[in-house]
Amino acid sequence: MSRVLKSARLAGAIAAAAGLVLCAGVALAQPQGKIKVGLMLPYTGTFAALGTAITNGFKLAVDENGGKIGGREIEYFTVDDESDPAKAPDNANKLVKRDQVDVLVGTVHSGVALAMSKVARDNNTLLIIPNAGADEITGPLCAANVFRVSFTNSQPGLAMGQVMAEQKKKTAVTITWKYAAGEESTGGFKEAFEKGGGKVVKELTLPFPQVEFQPLLTEIASLKPDAVYVFFAGGGAVKFVKDYAAAGLKDKIPLLGPGFLTDGTLEAQGDAAQGLLTTLHYADALDNPKNNAFRTAFKAKAGRDADVYAVQGYDSAQLLGIGLEAVKGNLDSEAALHKAMREARIDSPRGPISFSKSQEVVQNIYLRKASGGLNKVAGIAVENLADPGTGCKL
Ligand code: BEZ
Repeated sequence: MSRVLKSARLAGAIAAAAGLVLCAGVALAQPQGKIKVGLMLPYTGTFAALGTAITNGFKLAVDENGGKIGGREIEYFTVDDESDPAKAPDNANKLVKRDQVDVLVGTVHSGVALAMSKVARDNNTLLIIPNAGADEITGPLCAANVFRVSFTNSQPGLAMGQVMAEQKKKTAVTITWKYAAGEESTGGFKEAFEKGGGKVVKELTLPFPQVEFQPLLTEIASLKPDAVYVFFAGGGAVKFVKDYAAAGLKDKIPLLGPGFLTDGTLEAQGDAAQGLLTTLHYADALDNPKNNAFRTAFKAKAGRDADVYAVQGYDSAQLLGIGLEAVKGNLDSEAALHKAMREARIDSPRGPISFSKSQEVVQNIYLRKASGGLNKVAGIAVENLADPGTGCKL
């Protein structure tokens, strides 16, 4: 055999072997097995019902897709974060390092979410935030692997401040648990209310998750503002609304808040919540086909009515699904995955949503009125509100 022919054969053999290796490489790169989803949410404490609703909403979307996302089955890993920021780094690391999850989904409490997003950034783990609104997460702390499907804390506050200023209210008092979410929410209210000519005359706080409201109610009664704007959610919201009515303030000084004040809580609040005005990116009674179908399916699955937290859990899974479909279930195609998620257009029960450059949801903020067992739409307070993402370098 001539040297030329020999070397041609050798080259062919090498090429064939390389081809096999390549094929094997491709085969290995094909996504295998289940996608590991780490749910880090509160399942005990004042936000327990919120964590459960998010979980049920997420699982509903997966079930509706035949138990798969992006063509792959899901394996869940769950941690109760107890809404405790001190335990958050360890809890997030359990999911990322011990369980080696592909995706983190969480959480409700802003302080916990800030710690969780650091773990996600440090380990480059995809994080989808289904509630916690800490402004910084889609501001200076934004990252390519961090998405939020809920809101920025200041947004509902800004909307309500604007509405109250338009209604020519002159003075207001704010009350909140003293932590990022409450301070940003009441801060948003104050900014818009004072820009519109009003004045916040007192900013009252108590530590999270305390519910000893009596001294604060006594102070409100003596200050007699035109309105009271409060940030409370879950069990704390139930108690505050009932205490406010029991103190005889409900018919004297309008009680306002972001919609967390009356979301998922109306049944427990009873008459004390009737007529309360709140601002939020969702209302139970939004009449669109997606919301109607969602509420029926959620009730059948969870045995209770859907609320904003259920919607946010559902949309977290929808967002992940859009990303994974685009990369055929291959989480290693990071840039394409993030791009598809950033460009997602989601048919949400709250109405159509998209994402800003800082990977925060863009959506309507509704003015709602509690009536019977539902938060009903009283108007659109701000249309297509986009978080400015101040300080985000994406
Ligand atoms: C938060 O901590 O960001 C939060 C908690 C409950 C409802 C809304 C926001």
